[in-house]
Parts: sequence; structure tokens; C-alpha cells
Amino acid sequence: MKNILSMSQLSNQEVEDYLNAALEFKNGRQSNIGQGKFAVNMFFENSTRTKSSFQVAEMKLGMQQIVFDAQRSSTKKGESLYDTCRTLESVGANLAVIRHSQDEYYNELLNRNFNIPIINAGDGAGQHPSQSLLDLMTIYEHFNRLDNLKVGIIGDLSHSRVAHSDAEILTQLGSGVYFGGLDSWYTAEFKAMGPHKSVDDLCKEMDVVMLLRVQHERLSAQENQKFSKADYFEKYGLDMRRVNLMKPKAMLMHPAPVNRGVEIAGDVVECDKSYIFKQMVNGTFIRMAMIESVLRGSK
Ligand code: CP
Repeated sequence: MKNILSMSQLSNQEVEDYLNAALEFKNGRQSNIGQGKFAVNMFFENSTRTKSSFQVAEMKLGMQQIVFDAQRSSTKKGESLYDTCRTLESVGANLAVIRHSQDEYYNELLNRNFNIPIINAGDGAGQHPSQSLLDLMTIYEHFNRLDNLKVGIIGDLSHSRVAHSDAEILTQLGSGVYFGGLDSWYTAEFKAMGPHKSVDDLCKEMDVVMLLRVQHERLSAQENQKFSKADYFEKYGLDMRRVNLMKPKAMLMHPAPVNRGVEIAGDVVECDKSYIFKQMVNGTFIRMAMIESVLRGSK
């Protein structure tokens, strides 16, 4: 595959191939497919997990990195994304991992003279394919399947690239998706995929309860002013009472970063049902699989 931009470009077979490759890496397979090649990680939005696990994945595959700091780059002098990417390709980059606040920023780079593979590390409220694949890997490891599961996604749906990516691909794979949180975040695209339920009902009925962070950076000033952390936590937050409603084998997931005391209680973050840090462990292996795939495709 040349680029990995959106979960909507992946067939079920391709998802399975990525998960198998990631599980092989987790079980010790090694590859030096990146030897002699350079990656550039271009994060125009903040990141801890995605950026650092792409860095580790690249190093494990033998790649070296071109350091790129968006805040200190010539984009601040007005250079376009396309010219910045062409520059980094010209100095020797063989792979661009890009996170950007603009939905589908990558359209500016396609069908032009930019020839190295792109992995989308998150575009605005659009897609987050590496997070989605690591979520699928974590669910698959636990249930040994990705169909006929009930997955409840609770929180800031409309601003969440994780909600968009995961809801779409889980539906495609044959699982049911259900939603919770503020009615105003349950927009038409989610209504078309699954019903809205109370958080208590989702906790009782779901195989996977997936929480989302409230993305204050994407809310309007008015929405932020009206937002009460305490009210939100009471209505939609996961505390131990709600965790205890969950089925014995159910999983609690969150892409993180978590806002303790807003969508999740501090003592729930690492409770027995929580897979939050296991998701992060899988992130490195799934990103190795993605990088291997695009480096093979660009040969
Ligand atoms: N889950 C996720 O994308 O986290 P970061 O923003 O820290 O990369």
C-alpha cells in the first residue's frame, strides 16, 4: 500500500493482514526493511503516544529520523504543507508521518510531485487509522474476533477522529456500534451507524466500552464556557459504580490522553477491566506493521 490515510480505504482482509503482522512483531519477528531510510514525523498538533510510538516503530525497523518541529519550521513563515513535504522529500525523507488539524490535509499532497508514502497520524476530526488499528488489535487479542461484538463509544463523538475511524471499521467488520454522551455530539453520521443509549445501559450491555476525551481545543468558546466537568462526570463519566455494571469479560478502552475526573475516574484508569495501557503497548507493533506495508508498497 502506498499511503495509509483512512480506515475507509481498508478492506477486512487488509485489516486482518495488519493485525497479523503486528502480532508477529509482538511475538518477536524482526525486520530491517527501514535500514538506510529516513522517516520524518510531522506533527502539527500535539501528541505523546502516536508520535513516540511511531518513533520507536521506525527505529525498530532500522529507520533513522529527520527531526521536524512544526513550531520552529518554515511553515511559520508561510510555507505551505506541500512545499514543506517536497522539501523534506528533497533532503532525503523516505516516509512522512503527518498529524494535522485540518480534515483531509493530505488531499493537498496527492496527485502532485510528492512521491514518498504518507501515513496519516490524525487529521482534524477526520480519521486516526493507526489508533483504530491498535484498538482493533487489542479487541482481537481479547475476544479472538472482530465481528458480532457490541461496542459502545461514549463522549465527544463529533470532534473525534477515533470515533469516526472505529465506528466505521467496526461496522464494516460486522460488529454493532452504540453511542453515549451529549445528544448534540450524536450527529447524523453516528445516527446512521447505531443507537444512542444511557451510559448505565451501555455499561450493562456492551462487550467494549470505549471512552473519548472531551476535546476542548475543538469546542467553541461558548461551548467551553458552558461546560461543567462535574456535571459531565456525573452524567457520562466512568466511575467504579459503572465499571461494576459491566459484563465479566467486557473491556474498557480509551485512546488517551485521559482527563481524570471528567470522562473517567482516576481509580478506573488502571482497574482490572481497563485496557488503556495495553492499547499503547500495541500501538508500537501496529505502527511497525503499517510502516512495513508502506515501505514495501513504495519500493
Ligand atoms: N491517542 C492519541 O492519539 O494520543 P496522542 O494525541 O498523545 O498521540
